[in-house]
This record gives sequence, structure tokens and C-alpha cells, in this order.
Amino acid sequence: MPQRRDSAMRPKRLVVLGGRPPARAGVVWLVGAGPGDPELLTLKALKALQSADVVVHDGLVTAAILDLAPPAARRISVAKRKSRHSYSQDEINRMLTAFAREGLTVVRLKGGDPFIFGRGGEELEACRAAGVECRVIPGVTAALAAGASAGAPLTHRGSAQAVTFVTGHAAKGGEPDLDWAALARPNQTVVIYMGLSMAAPIAARLMAAGGASSTPALIVENASRADERRVVTTLAGLAEAAAALSGPALLIVGEAMAMAQDLMPAGVWPDLSMDSRLRGNERS
Ligand SMILES: C[S@@+](CC[C@H](N)C(=O)[O-])C[C@H]1O[C@@H](n2cnc3c(N)ncnc32)[C@H](O)[C@@H]1O
Repeated sequence: MPQRRDSAMRPKRLVVLGGRPPARAGVVWLVGAGPGDPELLTLKALKALQSADVVVHDGLVTAAILDLAPPAARRISVAKRKSRHSYSQDEINRMLTAFAREGLTVVRLKGGDPFIFGRGGEELEACRAAGVECRVIPGVTAALAAGASAGAPLTHRGSAQAVTFVTGHAAKGGEPDLDWAALARPNQTVVIYMGLSMAAPIAARLMAAGGASSTPALIVENASRADERRVVTTLAGLAEAAAALSGPALLIVGEAMAMAQDLMPAGVWPDLSMDSRLRGNERS
């Protein structure tokens, strides 16, 4: 049966004016949807989705994951749009708390993990300020899926003692204000979120700060999705490689990226329903 999806709908009747208080207290679940593959959703995230009255979701959340919510659950997209009204963070915060005050179970579904460049902290603070119960369910952040998919560990004995996640964009747009000298040091992995369009200045900064131009680098676009693409390159080649991609993508720089493979065709993520070894119900 086709599922109801009114993503474009604006929420109506956000507040019950002068009405009776709801019979049950509402709650906001801040849920990480993972990088895209529905099989990378946690069991807790699945349970929260199945209990949702309202799902407020970002653009990076795939249709296959939204379909896991009950058909009757209202789905509201707060994805950033170029041509139509985008919800401000304040509007999203008010929406979440207003629905919860109506006694509803609200699932705020975000790509990856809600607390990794996901503005989950701001939504948690808004719920706390409004006296609304808010619980957080972590998700597989894109960096973990990208490393796993390429066969490139983010930490690796002898070549990556640390891993750092940074944003490739300043809060108000433009180049990020990062500690380039620290990021250019060897024996670590630097993962850059939202950095595709800034790949050239980022690579230039890292090399100017002492990063070797030959440092292995990897770009993963649409990690864990059927249309995943991977490019294995070096710090010197990062900008040119990034120019051929359109995102969402991660730039990953560090010696351990020497292990990355770009040969696997896209869409080869293990499908548990097809793999008898993982199903465990067939004799070998
Ligand atoms: C606003 S951040 C959200 C990150 C998310 N909360 C997470 O934990 O992965 C969006 C950026 O995450 C990265 N990203 C998210 N999903 C991705 C995916 N499936 N493949 C590659 N990069 C992804 C891209 O850099 C994208 O621009």
C-alpha cells in the first residue's frame, strides 16, 4: 500500500490554544538515521521510528528509512530548499516542542549522527528550555561509513593515532577557521564534512601548514548508498578530484587512506537479506 508522505506540508495547529492538556506527555526523540543505507540504522532508531506520531526529517534521510515509520505518522521535511521556504532553526525548534506539548511522539530524524554537525545540540537545548522531554539515539556518522566502505581505517596502528572531524565551512559560509598547523601534522586522519566546494582552499591551507602534498586522501560521495562514489587521491590532487563530484561527500586526509580502495563498484554494500552467512539459517 502506498505510504502517506506529506513532506511539503506545513504543520497545522501547532499549539492547542485553551484546550485540555494532553492525556499523555509528548516526547522528542533526536534520532540518527545513519549515512543512508537503511540497514545501518540502529535497532533503537527503528523502534523510535515505529512509535512516531510525527517524523520531522532532513533532506539527507532516504525514502527507504522514512517508510519504516507507521503509514499514519505525519512526515514533515525541513530540508533546505533553494526555491521554496526553508525552515529556520528557530522554526524547527518551535515545531518540535509544540508537537510534543500536544502529547505526540516526535521523531526528529537526522542524517548520520544528530550530534555530529547535525545541530542536534541546539534542538536538545530548545527542548530543555521548553520543559519537553528529549532523548537522543546515536547514528552511524558518515565518516564511519566512508572509511568502512573504502576499506580504509580512520585510525591505524603506525599511521593514524588520532582522527579529527572538522567542518569545511565557516558558520556564515566561506573558509573555515581551523588550526591548520595541528591538522597538517602526520600520524592522524582528518575528516572534513561539508568540504567539497572548499576542497581547493582546504588542501592549500594544509600544504602551506606543512602537510606533504603526497599525503593519501580519499573522497567518498553518498557513502553507503547505491550511488556511492569513491576517489582515491593525494592532498595535491584533492581539489581536482573534488571538482568532479557534487556531494554529499567527505574529504578524508591521512596516511591510513593509503589503504583505501576505489575499485569496488558502487552499491556493493552487504544486503543482509541476501547473505546466507549473515542470515545464519543455511548450512554451508
Ligand atoms: C550537515 S552535515 C550532517 C552530518 C551528519 N550528521 C553525520 O553524522 O554524518 C552534512 C554533511 O555530512 C556529510 N555526509 C552526510 N551523509 C553523507 C554520505 N552518505 N556520504 C558522504 N558524506 C555524507 C557531507 O559532508 C555533508 O555535506
